[in-house]
Amino acid sequence: MKKILRELSAAVQPDIEKFHLMYRDSLNSEVRLINTVINFISRRKGKQVRPILTLLAANICGTPTELTYRAAALVEMLHVATLIHDDVVDDADLRRGWPSVKRIWKNKLAILVGDYLFSKALSNMIHLRDFDALELLSTTAERLSQGEILQIEKAMKSNMSEEVYYRMVADKTASLISAACELGAITTTTDPERRTAMRIYGEKVGIAFQIKDDLFDIIGNAAGLGKPTGFDLKKNMLTLPLIHYFESLDESERVRLRRKLNNHAKRGDKAYLSKAIRESGSLDYTQEVIRRFSDEAREALHIFPDSPVKTALEAFIDFNLQRDF
Ligand code: IPE
Ligand code: IPE
Ligand code: MG
Ligand code: MG
Repeated sequence: MKKILRELSAAVQPDIEKFHLMYRDSLNSEVRLINTVINFISRRKGKQVRPILTLLAANICGTPTELTYRAAALVEMLHVATLIHDDVVDDADLRRGWPSVKRIWKNKLAILVGDYLFSKALSNMIHLRDFDALELLSTTAERLSQGEILQIEKAMKSNMSEEVYYRMVADKTASLISAACELGAITTTTDPERRTAMRIYGEKVGIAFQIKDDLFDIIGNAAGLGKPTGFDLKKNMLTLPLIHYFESLDESERVRLRRKLNNHAKRGDKAYLSKAIRESGSLDYTQEVIRRFSDEAREALHIFPDSPVKTALEAFIDFNLQRDF
């Protein structure tokens, strides 16, 4: 699986190296503690799918520039900032196979370092000197927090519908993936059609990406993923498989299960629940939805003639469909 990702990013390998340099340079701080935390995070790279998408998008729309690398670095910074904050929100101790920032340095510092990365990203945005890029990134930052907060609101009231779930996923995850793709276009072309195509591709593949991530929560392997599983379940965050499963239950059964989950499900309850979810067909249903968004992402690429870069963008959709990390 890692091989697929390596192969599709081979199409932009020299660009990835430039992105790395830019990313490293953008992070430096005068404060030693900030550098310590940031060095710790930077050593665990993650998949870097967002910058890879920026670079692929730039290459399908034109020729990458310094601004493209800057945009790619910025997008990854925003992403890492949201992960650091997200682990506080989800009370998660494991990230990218290592203790999370909040685990090592506690919540206070995790919030502040996340904020620092956000602000660093903001000041880097100015260097883009592009009003469209600025507008896009500001909207994205707003959508990111909106999505995370909507999720908490719905978890508290436990009344998530499928429709609200898609909005939440689009905001908290697809917004940044879509921005990553659109920035690749913005920094390389003025053609509105290509920009729109990249935005839609990113939005659709981004939704599919988060739904896949939510699936891991139920069937994933924590060691391979490098983060906890059985997690949204435990914290009573409502994900698509759960929403779909709950719809199949009658009212009294639903209330009983919700109460159980709210009172911190025990290991046995969770095992029972994942089995029940699987048998109810909700996992198959979730796969089907991922496939539907994937098809829509593929469709968005139709304006581009065939090329190795287009093949790589298509391969990314398949990577997401098949990935187990
Ligand atoms: C995890 O994102 C959070 C989601 C939005 C699903 P990634 O799966 O891209 O995380 P890393 O960067 O590879 O660790
Ligand atoms: C994704 O949320 C993180 C953000 C988009 C902020 P999750 O809580 O679902 O992601 P993981 O599973 O912890 O990576
Ligand atoms: Mg979360
Ligand atoms: Mg989380």
